[in-house]
Amino acid sequence: MRQNHTTLINQIKSSFLKIFNKEPILIFSPGRINIIGEHTDYNDGFVFPAAINKGIITAIQKSISEFCTVVAADFNETFEFSLNNIQSIPNGGWKNYLLGVIAEIQKKGIKLEAFNIVFGGDIPVGSGLSSSAALENSIVFGLNELFRLGLTKKEMILISQKAEHNYVGVRCGIMDQYASMFGKKNNALFLDCRSVEANEINIDLKEYQLVLINTNVKHSLSESAYNDRRSVCEKVATMLNISALRDATEEDLLNIKTKISEEDYQKALYVIQENKRVQKATETLKFNDISALGKLLYESHNGLQNQYKVSCPELDFLVDKAKENSNIAGARMMGGGFGGCTINIIAKSATELFIKEISDAYQEKFNKECSVYFVEISEGTHLIKQ
Ligand code: GLA
Repeated sequence: MRQNHTTLINQIKSSFLKIFNKEPILIFSPGRINIIGEHTDYNDGFVFPAAINKGIITAIQKSISEFCTVVAADFNETFEFSLNNIQSIPNGGWKNYLLGVIAEIQKKGIKLEAFNIVFGGDIPVGSGLSSSAALENSIVFGLNELFRLGLTKKEMILISQKAEHNYVGVRCGIMDQYASMFGKKNNALFLDCRSVEANEINIDLKEYQLVLINTNVKHSLSESAYNDRRSVCEKVATMLNISALRDATEEDLLNIKTKISEEDYQKALYVIQENKRVQKATETLKFNDISALGKLLYESHNGLQNQYKVSCPELDFLVDKAKENSNIAGARMMGGGFGGCTINIIAKSATELFIKEISDAYQEKFNKECSVYFVEISEGTHLIKQ
């Protein structure tokens, strides 16, 4: 655990002790990056994410009253509720991730007792680093530990995903919850979203490093756009008589081209091509061919921008600037889109100068700041040893 987390852990723990006067169990649940494979997960396809050393710390313990009290330290908000009547709250923000997880556990016929939580973290919200999956996972993991529910990690991530579908209204795939729960230090996860099984691949980019640049454009308005994209994919898959676009080839799609709109054709084509790119990307790493990997990232961004249409001017600007610089092997937007971060593969020796240049250019163009994050690939959701 890094130094900054020690401070954070102590803060969360001491607020818990102060409010509830009882030693809590502590959980760390990370955010994630995704090297490549965007919007492929809900098409039963492949993705290549990794857990990072930014995350959510959750302190949890049984309550002595019949009510649960949950404190979101970063928002300075306290929420008290009863387990007898769990319902989503319109515009409830973080509360719906919590309530969704509880409801999905209850749906399995599991009876929970009242509990208290204090949580907080260092994942910038709305940055495409999956603070939501980190929160969901930390709650289900915490409840599993506290009440000895005996859930497997796979069961837990499916609960987290359903919470997001049913309580938040985003029909997300499984990538974020998987990466956050199963992350492995220094490894990215080549995940088959159909079997929900992954191969761990060691990431050592030698003289290159991964750098995230946050547009500071929050992507929260994109929920309906996300669900719309998923519906298009499902519609096209149904027309092709397959269960998901993962099973389609470009030729199959050509056969129905005249029966669908050009927009839908391009979106489905993007998914088929992106799925192939993920598989190629894992191959490039076998030979440490960073330049080939970088090219795949640029192609991925191009598809997300022009075919799948989930980018935004700020993301495109950051990727275009990266392209102008030969020290950057590749860059692309990361996550659902419409804001958040780009992921960049940058020569270590050129990083400092590039960051200075891009920060100035971004400020000048959009009259706002971008933020730069160096992340380490880290372990998935776990108990913090005390
Ligand atoms: C969001 C979703 C994921 C995935 C990505 C896009 O992060 O939660 O399931 O679909 O967008 O790749």
